[in-house]
Amino acid sequence: MSRDAMIDQWYPVGLISRLLSDGQETLLMGETIRVSRNGEGKAEVATTDGRALPVTERYGHVWSSLGVPEKPLFDIPEAEQPGRRLVDVGVVRVRCSPLRAVENFLDIAHFPFVHTDILGSEPHTEVENYKVEIREDADEVWATQVKFYQPQAAKSASGGITTEYMYRVPAPTCSVLYKTCPPKP
Ligand SMILES: [Fe+2]
Repeated sequence: MSRDAMIDQWYPVGLISRLLSDGQETLLMGETIRVSRNGEGKAEVATTDGRALPVTERYGHVWSSLGVPEKPLFDIPEAEQPGRRLVDVGVVRVRCSPLRAVENFLDIAHFPFVHTDILGSEPHTEVENYKVEIREDADEVWATQVKFYQPQAAKSASGGITTEYMYRVPAPTCSVLYKTCPPKP
């Protein structure tokens, strides 16, 4: 995918909970940008030469773009449901192409070998057929009916279960994961 196709996307550029009062610099697609709060408490993002960039504050993050996003940031309808809470788990830095990170995130075949005895275990290595579709109306990739045997599907799990996953790719470098909740111990 070319840089031109990517430039108009929204990207998370900071955690709202960690936004310093006098702002901070970060990199977006190799360009230094400044993320700060204005007098009204709203996030602002600008290039170092003062060009104001688009801003959205949602899902615990400040989002911005070096281009002109064609549409608002994707919706996560579940996030708006009553009783849901945002768990801010911080930042993990990975030296990797973001497209490759998403591609690898969707590849469940690595579970038994990388997350041994947690998200997978030998000899349960087979990936059963699942459904992949491009939902044209939303321009999103969805993988559904993904099933995998997991010895410890969550911290609260008290035994192995066959976990069902759905993966949603609402933007080229963003992915949303839905996963079976293990029964309460
Ligand atoms: Fe993994």
